[in-house]
Amino acid sequence: MSDQTLTVRDNRTGATYELPIVDGAVRAMDLRRIKADDDDFGLMSYDPAFMNTASCRSRITFIDGDRGILRYRGYPIEQLAERSTYLETAYLVLEGELPLKRQHEAWVHAITNHTFVHENVKELMAGFRYDAHPMGMLASTVAALSTFYPDAKEIHDPAVRDKQIHRLIGKIPTLAAFAYRHARGLPYVYPDNQLGYCANFLQMMFKVGDNYRVHPVLERALEVLFILHADHEQNCSTSAMRAVGSSDVDPYSAAAAAVAALYGPRHGGANEEVLRMLREIGSKDRIPAFIKEVKESGGEVKLMGFGHRVYKNYDPRAKVIKAIAARVFEVTGDDPLLAIALELERIALQDEYFLRRKLYPNVDFYSGLIYQAMGFPVDMFPVLFAIARMSGWLAHWEEMVQDPEQKIARPRQVYTGSARRDFVHMADRATAPVLVGV
Ligand code: CMC
Repeated sequence: MSDQTLTVRDNRTGATYELPIVDGAVRAMDLRRIKADDDDFGLMSYDPAFMNTASCRSRITFIDGDRGILRYRGYPIEQLAERSTYLETAYLVLEGELPLKRQHEAWVHAITNHTFVHENVKELMAGFRYDAHPMGMLASTVAALSTFYPDAKEIHDPAVRDKQIHRLIGKIPTLAAFAYRHARGLPYVYPDNQLGYCANFLQMMFKVGDNYRVHPVLERALEVLFILHADHEQNCSTSAMRAVGSSDVDPYSAAAAAVAALYGPRHGGANEEVLRMLREIGSKDRIPAFIKEVKESGGEVKLMGFGHRVYKNYDPRAKVIKAIAARVFEVTGDDPLLAIALELERIALQDEYFLRRKLYPNVDFYSGLIYQAMGFPVDMFPVLFAIARMSGWLAHWEEMVQDPEQKIARPRQVYTGSARRDFVHMADRATAPVLVGV
């Protein structure tokens, strides 16, 4: 028994129970001992949306939302954004340590070696409608990769896992760029393995003819944005990766579920909403009226790019992104929306409504503006997120596969439906159910 315990008294029976507290948590399974009588199933915890339930132990990412802290494997996000590259950070997230020089070279070589996709994948993508959303194409093609690599099923073999990790991180920029070019009717550009990870992605996206050169400031900006998005502990898409992966399915199928989760506007789509909001505001003099509208709407109208479930302080990623925005706009030319965003942030951060609710800019407040300045259309924003988050998804998948405490994810429910009743022949049913859309 742990030194720290929680004493629970069941007022139905008068019985008391000692529940061990370990690492600030009680085990939900310990509640099962609490029974109203011998036939009782035992007490469950009820936690829609997992607001206060830890589903795993993890060594990957630490967040302290009240203090605005984000660290990968102990390293502050600000230091990684300043001094690391995306592939080095991906290694750190996956392996737990910063690589030595030779480890780094081997890692970069392994990823670069897997940037090409099978020609049949290209044909598969060509089958999508001309206006297919790139995120739908990405989810489908990531899933389709499992049919190309049947060896991926051997998820308990570490060498097989490594191979799939190299393939997924290597191929996802290629799939993303092909999805974009498909929608534009442009020929697909193959990977250039002489280039770094982000420069290669940018050339696959934007190269037309032979004169395209990746601008170093934009390449570095993308690198930093990818570092900032590499992981964020148990968010919706990572939880999807873990839950689907817990069935022991191959990582392509699990990663496709993670991409699908990220597709939702509550997860990967907020930076697009920020752009829409800034366009609607239109000019700095209309900001006070917009703020008034937000405050008076009773939660209906949100200041997009503000607030976070976990951060009740400035999102540390937003600070880094704001600094990159200035550098990017020096290259691409000013976007009038940036001036509106800066003024909006300034006014909101002085306003009692936002201060009292601890609403600060989040990662999405400036990222959409940067992506747009770099030439990415809004439907590619969640795709960019998916490329960066692949390393985090895979790190969590590996951790889950190797965790002896994990089993197939299978939540309980509190049943609130009908009690037992007998089947009634259709002719004898007194009231017909209301059918919609038939
Ligand atoms: N603008 C105005 N009011 C807000 C906002 C906002 N952006 N966010 C929260 N509030 C209010 C909310 O109405 C509530 O007010 P009251 O106490 O009067 O009812 C109070 O603040 C608490 O908010 P909440 O809805 O309980 O907070 P939550 O943790 O459920 O929601 C959120 C977090 C991110 C969904 C929400 O802040 C939001 O919708 N923000 C705008 C969308 C956005 O920027 N999303 C990107 C999140 S970062 C992406 C990532 O990390 O993956």
